Amino acid sequence: MLNGKRKICVLPGDGIGPEIIDSALAVLNHVASHAGIAVTVSREPIGGEAIDAHGTPLPERTLQSCLSSDAVLLGAVGGPRWDSNPPHLRPEKGLLGIRKALGLYGNLRPVKQQPTLLECSSLKKEIVAGVDLLVVRELTGGLYFGEPQGISGEAGSEVGLNSMLYHRHEIERIAHKAFELARRRRKKVTSVDKANVLEVSQLWRKVVEEVHQDYPDVELNHLLVDNCAMQLVLRPTQFDVLLTENMFGDILSDIGGVLTGSIGTLPSASVGDGPALYEPIHGSAPDIAGKNIANPIGTIESVAMMFEYSFDRADLARQITDAIDLTLADGYRTADLARSGGKIVGTLEFTNEIRQRLN
Ligand code: IPM
Ligand code: MG
Repeated sequence: MLNGKRKICVLPGDGIGPEIIDSALAVLNHVASHAGIAVTVSREPIGGEAIDAHGTPLPERTLQSCLSSDAVLLGAVGGPRWDSNPPHLRPEKGLLGIRKALGLYGNLRPVKQQPTLLECSSLKKEIVAGVDLLVVRELTGGLYFGEPQGISGEAGSEVGLNSMLYHRHEIERIAHKAFELARRRRKKVTSVDKANVLEVSQLWRKVVEEVHQDYPDVELNHLLVDNCAMQLVLRPTQFDVLLTENMFGDILSDIGGVLTGSIGTLPSASVGDGPALYEPIHGSAPDIAGKNIANPIGTIESVAMMFEYSFDRADLARQITDAIDLTLADGYRTADLARSGGKIVGTLEFTNEIRQRLN
């Protein structure tokens, strides 16, 4: 892709969102300006911040700005302040709403163990050494979006309901995505479901097998989700691409935080047919917000994914991940990575160290 202009919509959100977004933007601006890419950034509210300012977790203006951008960068949403709000006024609805509105059906969550952080995992070093897997999580269907959903009934005898539901075409497109990504990696897909119990999973498994016919060079196996959770902490190096339903993927990908040593290091890309959205997989961590101790790596790595997937600049993505690796190799750590020793620094200082290692 030619150098030129890029419009990015930035949604800092709640809790530590604004801090880690500032770090990520510092890196993004540095890399873009050195590469001759003119980036225009528009900041828009989402989640709790948007509820407070506009009475809705996803204002129309935020949505329009995302739709007219080349890519979206998001911090995190949520916090105790809004926890007792009714369902439609929860910050999380803003995130789910933007995923749905942008048609972001594929959530890519790479989990790569850094040798410098081997000490950080609560698992034995020999278990996590060499972990390099990619969770491909379906993001606009399944239990998060299936209808009917809601709470009904009289006070005292209410019923809460969500539906895990997949249409064939939704399974087909995410399966294609997983097989295509596997071709760029170690060519192995593990599809995760609960086909021993759920009909929706039986259809999932059948359709994944059909799609697999187009990718004979990629190995496919199936794993039940409960077994997968165990295998992820027992022998995580067996996995290359994990393909799974929305809710299963949400749960399993947090285990990635144990494998790498901190959930603060994990990025993600959410892709569909329009602009993609990049966000760390961790939450808004309200307990540490505003203290300059949040780990910005997941968000900065998300910017690296943006350069690779949205701007077709794998070289610039590499520049960013190399700078992070060097910073860690030189001993700099945020508080969540303290277990591995080194120099504990704040978010701002850590970001500066990365910046200095960018070229
Ligand atoms: C994630 C988060 C979100 C999700 C929440 C904040 C809605 O946990 O991105 O993993 O459940 O998808
Ligand atoms: Mg989650």
